[in-house]
Amino acid sequence: RYAYVNGRYVDHREASVHIEDRGYQLADGVYEVVGVRDGKLIDEKLHIDRLGRSLGELRIDWPVARPTLGFIIRELMRRNRLRDGLVYMQVTRGVARRDHAFPTKPVKPALVLTTKNSKRAEPDPGPGIAVKSHPDIRWERCDIKTVALLPNVLAKQAARESGAYEAWLVDGKGNVTEGASTNAWIVTKGGELVTRATDNAILAGITRHTLKVLAGDLQLKLVERPFTLAEAKDAKEAFITSATSFVTPVVKIDGDTVGDGKVGPTARRLREEYVRFAA
Ligand code: PDD
Repeated sequence: RYAYVNGRYVDHREASVHIEDRGYQLADGVYEVVGVRDGKLIDEKLHIDRLGRSLGELRIDWPVARPTLGFIIRELMRRNRLRDGLVYMQVTRGVARRDHAFPTKPVKPALVLTTKNSKRAEPDPGPGIAVKSHPDIRWERCDIKTVALLPNVLAKQAARESGAYEAWLVDGKGNVTEGASTNAWIVTKGGELVTRATDNAILAGITRHTLKVLAGDLQLKLVERPFTLAEAKDAKEAFITSATSFVTPVVKIDGDTVGDGKVGPTARRLREEYVRFAA
């Protein structure tokens, strides 16, 4: 298996970056995760657009031109015979002697790509997952996809230690913002599909965006508004979305059953539609 590191395709086991890389020292960098299904990148353009936005917000230059990045992604997929899984790409501000402020003499941003194989996502969602709530202690720019993920790491770990797969982050008002690495959705007893509107408190998920379009095609009633943890526990259905989880039903929140504890028809249908779209 290969990794791409600053212009070279190298053996993944030997791939490394400089100890003075600002991503390593200061989490001064951004990333993207693009799902791959049956050899096809899912929503590549939207992911690269979002990478450009994240870079812009942090005033980091593109490490390579956009078309070049597209080429590198494909070359790495080819070398690694990637059919199903994901492509991870990361851009950091670059290598410079440690100082919080940007390097005064501009340095070249560092670009790293890896791939990960996984088994092909099935339209069938399986039994669903449990989530655990956790206070959202992140910063006020969660719209930027940065590698500064320590609050997400701690929340996810707390969830895993309690036997849950994902953490749902709850803000000071009691509203669920999103998951540690996913967006959060519910279906109310009134039949409304609810997910929080995008602002600086959450990442504008690409899967979230595409699912909104698919939900519209199915003429589901979508409302973008905050929802509380209590409302989620009382909902008919709940689910998460991301490039890696696609659409995954949530059947338990903090040990409480959602609906009848089984995967509901809306999450099931939306996952089927999403997998069909990705194929
Ligand atoms: N996570 N919210 C957060 C905080 C995320 O980290 C992610 C993605 C999402 C979903 O976004 P998208 O649908 O574009 O994947 C929402 C990736 C998969 C990760 O960190 O591995």
